[in-house]
Parts: sequence; C-alpha cells; structure tokens
Amino acid sequence: MEEIQYYKTVYSKFWKNQTKKYGYGAYERNLVGLIANSLPERVFEVGVGTGWPIGAALREKGIQVDGCDIAESSVALAQKELDNPEGIWAGDVTDYTGELEAYDVVYCVRVSWYIPDFYRTVRQMASMTKPGGIIVFDVMDKYSPHCLRMQKEEMKEKYFRFLGIDVEENFGQHFINLWQMKRFLKKNGLRYECWNEREITGNGDRKHTPKVVFCCRKER
Ligand SMILES: C[S@@+](CC[C@H](N)C(=O)[O-])C[C@H]1O[C@@H](n2cnc3c(N)ncnc32)[C@H](O)[C@@H]1O
Repeated sequence: MEEIQYYKTVYSKFWKNQTKKYGYGAYERNLVGLIANSLPERVFEVGVGTGWPIGAALREKGIQVDGCDIAESSVALAQKELDNPEGIWAGDVTDYTGELEAYDVVYCVRVSWYIPDFYRTVRQMASMTKPGGIIVFDVMDKYSPHCLRMQKEEMKEKYFRFLGIDVEENFGQHFINLWQMKRFLKKNGLRYECWNEREITGNGDRKHTPKVVFCCRKER
C-alpha cells in the first residue's frame, strides 16, 4: 500500500480512536494558548484530524477554524465538530486554491512527521498567512533519543525485508534536523521562537519527548 493511501484509510481509523485517549493535556492547551493569544479571527489547521481537541478549543473561543486533512473520513468528523462544512476540505495543504494571505494563523500540530517534504508545507502555510500573522507547527527532532531509536528500528526492518523476512508494513516517519529548519526559516524571512516539548509540558523524560514547537511571525 502507498504511504498516502495508508494515512487515508488505516491511519485515520486508528487516529479516530486515539484522539480522546491522547486527550486535551498540557501540550495541547499550551498550543491553543499560543494561537489564541495572537487574537486571531480566522485560522487554518493543516491535518485537522477529527477537529478535536485543538480546533474545537479555538472554535469555542469564537475563532473561525478552517482546515484540511488527507483522510476523507476525518474531514467529515471535523466539519461537524467545527461546524464548518465549507471551510474544511479533503486534501494536502499544497492543493489549496483559496485566497493567499487570508489567515491570521496557520498551524499544523502533530502532523509534520507524516509529511515527506514538510519544508514545502511550511512554505505553503506562510503563503496563506497574513503579513504580521503567525505560523505554528511542531516537528520531531531527528537527533532526539526517541527518533534515533525509531530510525534504528526502521533500519532493522529494511534489512529484514532485504533478507526476505516478512515484517509488518510500517511507514517510516519524517523527522526534522532542527538546525536545517532554523536555517530554512531565516532564509524565508520568518522570525521564529521555538520550545522543546519538555519546556512546554514540564515532563522531564528525555527519552519520550522529541517534539519541538515553532512559532514564526510573517513580516508585515
Ligand atoms: C496525529 S493526527 C493529528 C490531528 C490533529 N492535528 C490533532 O492534533 O489532533 C495526524 C493527522 O494528519 C493527517 N495527515 C497526514 N498527512 C497529511 C497531509 N499530507 N496533509 C494533510 N493531513 C495529513 C492524518 O490524516 C491525521 O488526521
């Protein structure tokens, strides 16, 4: 099965059941706070999932939440959750054909590691953001203990396949070299601040906290 097809079908079923289990904890609350503090009227969520909890928390604050997701079944749930059948659509954000510089905030949370070329996604997000607006996303640090362990597992699976040993289909995730991302943002004129998951949640477990949140401002 192709990677994109996997996320559209198998993964969307998995995520629908996981979303409540992951809940609305310190990480999600802080992201909602970061977005809401910029007092946006209209935001766009890349990879909106079921629309809960992040989109729903913003919607509750009276913010219009548009978005997209590659999984049609998730889009249907998000349209209902966020009461927005028009503004939430199925597809990759690079398929966006709407007005440029239309949103106060464009954000992408807990999705970047499923996207093979996330730099392209960030460029697209920036083009949809109003001058003076913000772009928020999280990535997994390629050199964090968690990601190094995952990469080792992936190499092992590749080797087993090479030997003809049957291993369960598992698509590798796409981790980000933080130094490269920072250089990319500077080159594209995006001023940023970033925080490690541990700083955000207060969870000091270095082995299981690979996420880094970026908040970038688009120049006026
Ligand atoms: C872990 S869920 C996160 C959902 C939501 N952002 C949240 O934080 O609750 C990842 C979502 O990304 C979606 N996804 C994966 N690749 C995508 C892509 N290229 N464009 C848009 N959505 C994508 C999946 O279908 C899934 O709904």
